[in-house]
Amino acid sequence: MGAFCYGDDMKQLKFYLITDTHYFKNSLGAYGKGYDEFMRFEQKCYAETQAINRSVIDWLKEADEADIVLIAGDLSFNGEKESHLEFIELLNELKASGKQVFVVSADHDVNKEPFAYNGGERISVEPIDRMDIFDLYYDFGFSQAIAVDKKHLSYVVQLGDGVRLMALNNDYENQKFFDDEQLEWIRTQAKSARDDNQLLFAMNHYPLLPGQPLFSLISSTYQKNSYEVVNLMADEGIHLVFTGHMHNQSINEFISTNGNKLYDVCTSSVIAHPAIIRHVTLSDDFTAQIKSIPCPDFEWDTNGKTCQQYLIDLFDSMILNILEDMKTDPARVLGKFGIGDKKALFPVVKILGKLFDKLTVGTLSRLLFIKCDKSIRKELLKNYIARLVRGVFEGNQTFVEGTAHGDVFINFLNRINPVLKKIKVKGFDGKPADLKEILKHSAGNYGIDDYNTILKLK
Ligand SMILES: [Fe+2]
Ligand SMILES: [Fe+2]
Repeated sequence: MGAFCYGDDMKQLKFYLITDTHYFKNSLGAYGKGYDEFMRFEQKCYAETQAINRSVIDWLKEADEADIVLIAGDLSFNGEKESHLEFIELLNELKASGKQVFVVSADHDVNKEPFAYNGGERISVEPIDRMDIFDLYYDFGFSQAIAVDKKHLSYVVQLGDGVRLMALNNDYENQKFFDDEQLEWIRTQAKSARDDNQLLFAMNHYPLLPGQPLFSLISSTYQKNSYEVVNLMADEGIHLVFTGHMHNQSINEFISTNGNKLYDVCTSSVIAHPAIIRHVTLSDDFTAQIKSIPCPDFEWDTNGKTCQQYLIDLFDSMILNILEDMKTDPARVLGKFGIGDKKALFPVVKILGKLFDKLTVGTLSRLLFIKCDKSIRKELLKNYIARLVRGVFEGNQTFVEGTAHGDVFINFLNRINPVLKKIKVKGFDGKPADLKEILKHSAGNYGIDDYNTILKLK
């Protein structure tokens, strides 16, 4: 690959990236009894998303460290036509401020039955068809593209001298994977980039690598058949992909069987904790510098809390509500994980719910004969769990060896390891995996910094 240059800053290309904007036009309705019930199990904002997107777009309009903005999908809350139309007005403002904007659509952008809450129960609002995306967002990718796969709503655009972006969508017929035709298109575009001496990187809503080791066990958290895709991409010369969807912060490395690298940089939603804007610098020494910028504050009645604390509390309340409802509504809790019909589990869930409610970390440690540092003995188990789960989504997870929270978790894993060993699990590559290691490396980050780092692409 030859040197590439961009603007005044030779041999570099810079851009901002946000994802999962989930814009909702507030006048459709986001309040009332049904709304409150819906929000009990939500970590993402709903009524607030109009205000949050307003502040993020205003911030980007003024931001002067790049004049390109990428948006990695889930543009609307849940596919409401009115939300799309109003979000596009914001994108037009951003464009008018001098930014080039490139988007890709995803699972929440097309929904047969989008909904709102105007005081009572859920009401239906007008949807869009999948192919409306092409016309609606034509000015934000398709119109500038040097190659378009209209059927798969994907395109390649020349971002700067020597750098191309491949924006991919995977929901043709809701299949959530790249079919053979799309894989062939990816191969063709990768070859053309190589022939033209271009650096090609990708943006795809769904993570291609599980964001955290634990996510490798939950198929909905990353793209189907992704092991095949990451091997193909890495070997075809695509070494970097930006993703979203899980509303988590993570950066993961993959090495193909032929020894080629691929990094999946997954960014959190702007409308949920930790609410991050990425800033990326690609350089012709094959590095990508990733920086993370907290989203700006937004106009909302947060009961005196900072906006950041408001989002943290929303995240924690989801976990605490799930733990609370285990006692009384195990069907709904299991339903959140797609197994609401497993009635045999109801009594177990109820017992665990009661335990979580009362137990402290110290009491559980005593019962299991494991060491627990004095500083956290009085912490309620449910608060410990909320913090642990929040960390999995925040990235740079702090429950590592050598910390009070991490040590008690690792001691716990060691204690239950005979049971964990009996549970056969497979990694995303289909190979048998060690459940204890998966849990340890999900609670604590021992790998790449998920926020600020320099990735060597080759
Ligand atoms: Fe999302
Ligand atoms: Fe998504």
